[in-house]
Amino acid sequence: MGIFNNKVGFKLFGFSGLTIRKSTVCLLGIFLIGIVACQQSAVRTKLDIPPKQPEAIIEEKAEKAGAFEITDAQCVLCHPKQPQTIKVYGGKHETEVGCSDCHLEHPPKGTKAVPECGMCHCEKAHYQLDQCGSCHTDTHAPLINLTLEGEISEPCLTCHMQQGDEVANYPSAHTEMACNECHAEHRKVPNCMECHSKHTEDMNFESCKSCHPVHMPLDVTYSEDTPSEYCGTCHGAVLSLLEQNTTKHHDLSCVYCHKNKHKTVPSCYACHDKPPRPDALMQKIPACAACHDTAHNLIV
Ligand code: HEC
Ligand code: HEC
Ligand code: HEC
Ligand code: HEC
Ligand code: HEC
Ligand code: HEC
Ligand code: HEC
Ligand code: HEC
Ligand code: HEC
Ligand code: HEC
Ligand code: HEC
Ligand code: HEC
Repeated sequence: MGIFNNKVGFKLFGFSGLTIRKSTVCLLGIFLIGIVACQQSAVRTKLDIPPKQPEAIIEEKAEKAGAFEITDAQCVLCHPKQPQTIKVYGGKHETEVGCSDCHLEHPPKGTKAVPECGMCHCEKAHYQLDQCGSCHTDTHAPLINLTLEGEISEPCLTCHMQQGDEVANYPSAHTEMACNECHAEHRKVPNCMECHSKHTEDMNFESCKSCHPVHMPLDVTYSEDTPSEYCGTCHGAVLSLLEQNTTKHHDLSCVYCHKNKHKTVPSCYACHDKPPRPDALMQKIPACAACHDTAHNLIV
């Protein structure tokens, strides 16, 4: 269990008086555990006992007051459940801290029986959120049963800035949705077909993602092996024109010409030199279409 178990017990019924103000709690976290380098000003710690007093005198005083020290190992005598939960699901709350690092005091004497998370978790944006317990429902199992209730977006951005920027910078219907409408459980990713139908039957989740980056679904990009049939589901007329065409353009895929990004339209010059027959007629009619019609309905 905790690394301070043997040292940081507390005086059960005759708690001898370490009083901590709210503003000091973060610092106490470092002090006790030495992990979080939080900077908090106005740190005030009030000890009834003068700080320099030797251990022996403190012990003696405590004994006189009728207190006895209780170690983490003894909590289980009266609280069987929490030690068990922590052992199985505690994660770093088992390995990095002990019961008494969090439970600084005990009733009836002590009023600080339940710690605030900010005592040890401060500084990161994530730790400035409200109501830690609304998601981390059991501190003794802090990452188990993470609950995401209601519409949640802003809190996710404390760790996932990139996705937040994507939905904000590329407005789409997905921008209007809360993150957990799709990610109902943390780290779980939905299939598009839970909400949408396919353009064509032979598409799957992978193909959806190959064209639509999900957090900016209207910023359609695609790879060079995208089949022309996919484009044809919406551009049926173009597809059939090209299929019927007998020139060398017939053999080219849509994405060979319309590279990478949806709605890019190439110029003939992207692939062809200036008119191959720069004769007099060409000078008069520079538009390729005047003799060759369109790229899809090419005439030679
Ligand atoms: C001798 C039995 C006994 C031991 C040992 C014991 N407790 Fe308790 N504890 C109780 C009882 C009884 C209560 C309920 C007191 C109340 O509700 O006023 C309680 C309540 C608590 C609470 C709830 C306080 C609140 O305000 O809700 C916490 C937290 C707690 N104990 C932690 C600990 C920890 C940590 C240890 C070991 C370091 C420990 N206890 C050891 C008997 C014990
Ligand atoms: C990381 C801090 C932390 C550690 C470590 C911790 N607790 Fe708790 N404990 C809490 C908090 C916070 C609560 C208040 C309820 C909650 O948020 O889960 C609590 C509540 C309790 C309660 C009151 C009943 C309840 O479950 O609400 C008892 C009893 C208790 N803890 C005992 C223990 C014992 C025994 C250990 C060591 C095996 C321990 N705790 C370790 C933070 C901690
Ligand atoms: C006494 C100090 C202390 C308190 C109080 C405390 N924690 Fe922690 N907690 C730690 C330490 C130390 C770690 C491990 C280092 C880290 O992840 O920052 C930790 C880790 C965690 C983790 C990650 C667990 C893992 O296994 O990776 C979560 C989640 C967490 N704490 C939530 C909370 C919440 C929520 C509260 C308040 C209800 C709380 N903690 C109160 C000390 C504390
Ligand atoms: C909206 C839900 C939500 C709220 C509110 C929330 N957390 Fe978290 N927390 C999470 C999620 C999700 C994770 C990531 C879990 C994972 O990595 O699997 C997490 C991870 C953590 C971790 C471990 C990872 C890390 O970055 O340190 C700690 C510690 C933690 N939270 C503490 C807190 C504290 C303290 C609060 C309150 C100030 C809080 N959380 C509020 C959802 C929440
Ligand atoms: C405290 C930080 C933290 C918070 C808050 C947090 N996450 Fe995460 N999330 C993580 C970490 C860490 C991972 C794992 C990243 C990795 O494996 O590269 C992760 C992974 C994910 C994944 C990826 C799963 C995968 O298979 O790739 C999704 C989706 C996710 N989080 C969604 C969310 C949503 C939605 C929220 C808000 C409800 C949220 N997260 C809040 C830390 C957090
Ligand atoms: C319309 C549904 C939907 C919404 C809304 C949504 N996501 Fe996702 N998210 C997904 C899908 C699907 C994936 C898997 C993408 C992949 O594998 O390429 C994903 C992947 C992720 C990942 C893993 C890394 C990555 O980018 O692939 C994180 C983190 C994540 N989402 C966070 C968020 C956050 C934060 C929000 C809110 C701002 C959010 N998501 C909103 C569907 C959604
Ligand atoms: C949880 C449900 C959900 C999931 C999962 C989901 N979407 Fe959506 N999506 C919606 C809703 C709701 C709309 C807006 C109404 C509509 O167009 O159907 C939308 C709209 C869209 C739009 C049009 C955007 C606009 O602004 O017009 C595209 C493109 C889209 N989704 C692609 C995807 C892709 C690709 C995936 C998987 C990677 C996916 N969606 C996953 C719910 C979802
Ligand atoms: C070859 C690329 C491509 C693939 C693969 C693809 N889409 Fe699309 N999708 C588009 C284009 C382009 C649009 C039109 C965008 C616009 O209007 O600007 C679109 C539009 C949409 C829309 C908005 C409504 C509509 O029908 O116009 C939804 C929803 C959508 N796609 C979902 C999906 C899903 C789900 C999959 C996987 C089964 C998928 N898409 C696969 C390119 C693709
Ligand atoms: C889901 C339907 C859908 C799919 C699939 C689709 N498109 Fe489109 N495409 C559209 C819509 C809608 C427009 C806009 C039409 C308009 O503005 O009149 C468009 C416009 C275009 C334009 C014309 C831009 C302009 O300036 O006139 C090109 C070029 C184009 N798409 C190429 C493709 C290619 C290549 C593919 C396959 C990789 C593809 N589209 C797949 C729906 C789709
Ligand atoms: C992305 C590249 C690309 C674009 C853009 C493009 N072409 Fe081509 N074109 C080709 C390729 C490749 C061939 C076949 C060359 C070969 O095999 O020698 C070709 C062949 C041709 C031919 C000869 C056809 C045959 O069967 O002999 C003509 C004429 C032609 N293109 C005209 C045009 C015109 C006019 C445009 C603009 C409307 C255009 N091309 C746009 C790539 C392109
Ligand atoms: C040889 C290159 C080439 C190929 C192959 C090609 N396009 Fe085009 N496309 C163009 C050019 C160049 C234009 C601009 C108009 C023109 O000069 O023909 C264009 C225009 C368009 C337009 C907008 C104007 C219109 O005609 O509706 C759409 C949509 C389009 N292409 C879709 C497609 C689709 C879908 C495919 C595959 C079935 C495809 N293109 C194959 C070169 C090509
Ligand atoms: C005045 C009519 C005319 C115009 C305008 C014209 N071409 Fe042609 N082009 C032709 C004819 C005729 C041929 C066939 C020559 C042959 O069969 O030897 C041809 C052949 C081609 C070829 C095939 C050359 C080869 O060596 O096989 C390409 C590529 C081509 N044109 C591209 C273009 C482009 C690009 C434009 C616009 C800049 C353009 N043409 C404008 C009449 C024209």
